[in-house]
Amino acid sequence: MTKQASDTSYKTDALIAEDIDAYLDQHQNKSLLRFITCGSVDDGKSTLIGRLLYDSKMIFEDQLAALESDSKKVGTQGQEIDFALLVDGLAAEREQGITIDVAYRFFATEKRKFIVADTPGHEQYTRNMVTGASTADCAVILVDARKGVLVQTRRHSYLAHLLGIKHLVLAVNKMDLVDYDQQVFDDIVADYAAFAKEIGIEAFTPIPISGFKGDNITAAPSENTQWYEGPALIEHLETIEIANVAAQEKPFRMAVQWVNRPNLDFRGFSGLIGSGTVKPGDTVRIVPSGKTSTVKSIVTFDGELDEAVAGQSVTLTLEDEVDCSRGDVISASDNPPEASDQFEATIVWMDEEALKPGRGYWLKLASQMVTATVQEPKYEINVNSMEHLAAKTLGLNAIGVAEVHTEKPVTFEAYADNRALGGFILIDKITNATVGAGMLHFSLRRAQNVHWQATTITRDDHAGMKNQKPRVLWFTGLSGSGKSTIANAVEQRLNLMNRHTFLLDGDNVRHGLNKDLGFTEADRIENIRRVGEVAKLMTDAGLIVLTAFISPFRAERDMVRAMIDDCEFIEIFVDTPLDVAEQRDVKGLYKKARSGELKNFTGIDSPYEAPEAPEIRVNTVEMTVEEAADHIIQHILPLK
Ligand code: ADX
Repeated sequence: MTKQASDTSYKTDALIAEDIDAYLDQHQNKSLLRFITCGSVDDGKSTLIGRLLYDSKMIFEDQLAALESDSKKVGTQGQEIDFALLVDGLAAEREQGITIDVAYRFFATEKRKFIVADTPGHEQYTRNMVTGASTADCAVILVDARKGVLVQTRRHSYLAHLLGIKHLVLAVNKMDLVDYDQQVFDDIVADYAAFAKEIGIEAFTPIPISGFKGDNITAAPSENTQWYEGPALIEHLETIEIANVAAQEKPFRMAVQWVNRPNLDFRGFSGLIGSGTVKPGDTVRIVPSGKTSTVKSIVTFDGELDEAVAGQSVTLTLEDEVDCSRGDVISASDNPPEASDQFEATIVWMDEEALKPGRGYWLKLASQMVTATVQEPKYEINVNSMEHLAAKTLGLNAIGVAEVHTEKPVTFEAYADNRALGGFILIDKITNATVGAGMLHFSLRRAQNVHWQATTITRDDHAGMKNQKPRVLWFTGLSGSGKSTIANAVEQRLNLMNRHTFLLDGDNVRHGLNKDLGFTEADRIENIRRVGEVAKLMTDAGLIVLTAFISPFRAERDMVRAMIDDCEFIEIFVDTPLDVAEQRDVKGLYKKARSGELKNFTGIDSPYEAPEAPEIRVNTVEMTVEEAADHIIQHILPLK
């Protein structure tokens, strides 16, 4: 161990022995730096992390938590253990946890507390790196001095930069294995500098180290690198400006996580301050409503505050009874963030199942949660060469740029300006899995310039003239299941009842409006989206709309249901087993699909997701067309 490190631990030990309260106090008031290490095990990552924990006189995770929660219980600091054993332990743990997620490790020095996110280095773990990096202030990019800048060094640096990490350290490791040769170090730094400039990295801090031997970890220069004039790694990490501190300079924003109303006298809005500072007496604006009020008090667990800053979780009370709920953003009144429903964003895909352009996902941004669709990517980025590639979708670990449309406007800022209001995740609506992470670039101008035009004659007026209630009778089922035939019979009956109807049929609409669409998943999603919009317009015109489309995916049927007034949407499952539809094979398409002449055929090599709770189910094996039509009519009566 270097001299400085042992001095540090001596002083700390003495303080613990003499005055535990003073020690804990000092510890609690330290700032916290989150950083990520990038590199593979071969680069010596486990050794470096082991070295940081060891030389900083580590405090184990559970002890740190205990120190923070109950200052009286803990009397000792992390125990001394063998360095080699520690590194082996870390490597083994990493190996086991490799596919799970990110390993977070805690340690502290006299000046600062640290959380290091240890993520696996291979390309197939890009999503893990993104997870670890999204909250980091600094990235330590590890390079093996014998190998220099590799493809993975570029990938890690690019991702760190993309995720808005402002401080990059180029740790040239294993200097002991190149005889601490300055020339080797200088060449690697020059090589990296050229690449960094290319991708827009403005500055980085290169440090020659040996994780194994401990050179330039706690004190610099080590005896072996007298030529080196910069800081040691830990010294440098102790001085990096923490993002929350930088964020204090920006306008005030707090996304409301929940509203506290324990009694009628108290109404508080709780959340994490994403940027800026706030004081009682400040005028704030609630976005999107635009209402203003004045901050009355800032309440925390430990009492009221005179001021709160970015990075703190607080509860604000306001002078006025303004409307403000979960998802709203309380902001500086003279500088509020925008709201928009169309954006350009960089998206990192994190799910085994590829992105489905046009599919509705949950988009979670700060405390806002809305339905969003991602368009076909403008391009995918090759994370190794940074080339832009044409892409129709994004697979696991792919990164691309695409337009994102949200169902309702969301309050946002560009990710580059504010990670809290510019970063989002995408969640699959059915499995609830996080499938993507994104960074908003900017709102598309067309979203701001197109406003909803209120019309005088309403949908109720239209429907009233026809003396009927609008409906969408949404028939779904396999090709050849009988959707069109039954829908046709239902429409005839409605016509006899003097109802104003319109039948939208898959084969017909695909001859006109949707003639540009085929049968890939993306095209089917778009097919149903358009039909949903048309059906909605027709209900606005007061009609009873019948649609006959395979509509194979639950998510899109639910999307249309969400678009249309719930009680107006009637899902009718034409439940004909595949073997029956195939036997009928009215259009001869099953035969073609089986022989391989026709690709992506529903039920054969393209999926059909049967409805789980349709309003009506008709079994065409048990019912005739006439019986099925009568059954449906009975169900939808009365029509006024
Ligand atoms: S959907 O899946 O996008 O809802 P839609 O109902 O519009 O499909 O069109 C289905 C009709 O297109 C079928 O009834 C059939 O006549 C024809 N078709 C042609 N190719 C295919 C295919 N690969 N899969 C399913 N239907 C196909």
